[in-house]
Amino acid sequence: MRRGQRSLLLSSTPSLLLRSLVLLSLCPRGQAVQAENVTVLEGGTAQISCRLQNYDGSIVVIQNPRRQTLFFNGTRALKDDRFQMVLFTPRLVRITLINVSVSDEGGYFCQLYTDDTHHQVATLSVVVPPEVPTVEVKTEAVEGGEVELTCMSPRSKPPATLRWVRDRREIAGVISQQENGKTVSVSNTIRIPVERKDNGAALSCEASHPALVGQKRVRHYSLDVHFAPTVKIIPPQGILREGDSLSLTCSVTGNPLPRDIQWSRVNDTLPERAEKTGNILQMSRLSQSHNGTYLCQAHNNYGRAADHYTLLVYVSVPPNSHPAIAHPILPSSSFTKEYQDPGAVVETHSAVPYAVIGGILALLVFTVICVLIVTIWCSVRQKGSYLTHEASGLDEHGEVQEAFLNGNDASQGKKEYLL
Ligand SMILES: *[C@@H]1O[C@H](CO)[C@@H](O)[C@H](O)[C@H]1NC(C)=O
Ligand SMILES: *[C@@H]1O[C@H](CO)[C@@H](O)[C@H](O)[C@H]1NC(C)=O
Ligand SMILES: *[C@@H]1O[C@H](CO)[C@@H](O)[C@H](O)[C@H]1NC(C)=O
Ligand SMILES: *[C@@H]1O[C@H](CO)[C@@H](O)[C@H](O)[C@H]1NC(C)=O
Ligand SMILES: *[C@@H]1O[C@H](CO)[C@@H](O)[C@H](O)[C@H]1NC(C)=O
Repeated sequence: MRRGQRSLLLSSTPSLLLRSLVLLSLCPRGQAVQAENVTVLEGGTAQISCRLQNYDGSIVVIQNPRRQTLFFNGTRALKDDRFQMVLFTPRLVRITLINVSVSDEGGYFCQLYTDDTHHQVATLSVVVPPEVPTVEVKTEAVEGGEVELTCMSPRSKPPATLRWVRDRREIAGVISQQENGKTVSVSNTIRIPVERKDNGAALSCEASHPALVGQKRVRHYSLDVHFAPTVKIIPPQGILREGDSLSLTCSVTGNPLPRDIQWSRVNDTLPERAEKTGNILQMSRLSQSHNGTYLCQAHNNYGRAADHYTLLVYVSVPPNSHPAIAHPILPSSSFTKEYQDPGAVVETHSAVPYAVIGGILALLVFTVICVLIVTIWCSVRQKGSYLTHEASGLDEHGEVQEAFLNGNDASQGKKEYLL
């Protein structure tokens, strides 16, 4: 009756403590031995303990999973120095195993030589935590394409969990496991589309495992997205005159960054004194023979790019002379200012069109003044009240308002002035 109740208790409660109590009390009178299961990290030290009950001096035998005798009543039987007998008392026999490997796994037998029925098995389990995983790039990343990345943990037991993470968010991948003897190799493969802006983006692959107790082994990986170069010449400020020096910088991007940057002049050779150092082209003592279109070109495996700059070297002006002197027929001060402004005239436009436009403007102003004088003269003769109107000059609002008030004749006249 009592035995039946106890075995019922044994099967219904998984608690180790309870089972131990049950096992201990199963044979209350005779000798008994009892073993404990052990879990240890690979490379660690395992303690295998056999508890004795009512020990009466019988021979205690400890055997390995292949049932080779390790210790015969305290004396080493198998020649393996990794095993040591550390304790032999009437209550407890304990051996240690150092540098445990997965091949040491299995049941270790604690047995009383006299009574084979009273042996107990201590199961040794070896846990292998994963190393920091590795990342393999299956297809290289080119902008506009997809990249395939595989995170690998070659050895763990039980299998490690691998997660890809970007900006703290998990990227779902394809997980595969392969058994390798007693350990498992795990991989997690993701495919993600990549653009130029993703170059250098930080990803990580995290390996978690029960033996790491909440810690993670993390491999960081930054995306290496290849893309065709871009090229931009940074132009100098202001007008260039004979004798000035010029430094053109060619700003280049690309992955990989183009190594050779080529400078050239369209339909011409580079000037003799031009110096190329990396992405900078320098020319000292400019002359008009330097005029031309300069090209900066770069390429990598993914494409090529070029930018151009048109250089126009202006005649040098003696320090005291005013540029306007070169065009004495143009009195317009606004035009002179424009001509002097270094930012306003940089490329392509010479001074000639400005001179012509200035002349035409002066002529127009002159014509308008003549017409105004004639109109005033006419108004005075007609005793009209147009005097105030004339005085307002080119004030547009005044004109329109008065034209409206004064009828058709005046408005037609205005249209002419505005032409
Ligand atoms: C020890 O491990 C073995 C095998 O894993 C298992 O069958 C047994 O129930 C375990 N014993 C105890 C007391 O946990
Ligand atoms: C076995 O070893 C124990 C502890 O050293 C000892 O007390 C006992 O007498 C030994 N038994 C035999 C049969 O030698
Ligand atoms: C532990 O065992 C492994 C093989 O299982 C061996 O390569 C290594 O050298 C051993 N380490 C020590 C400290 O004995
Ligand atoms: C270069 O020469 C070609 C043919 O002679 C001509 O069409 C082109 O406009 C020239 N380019 C420059 C920048 O001078
Ligand atoms: C160089 O450019 C300047 C500015 O447009 C122009 O005045 C000059 O005639 C050009 N010289 C040559 C040799 O082309």
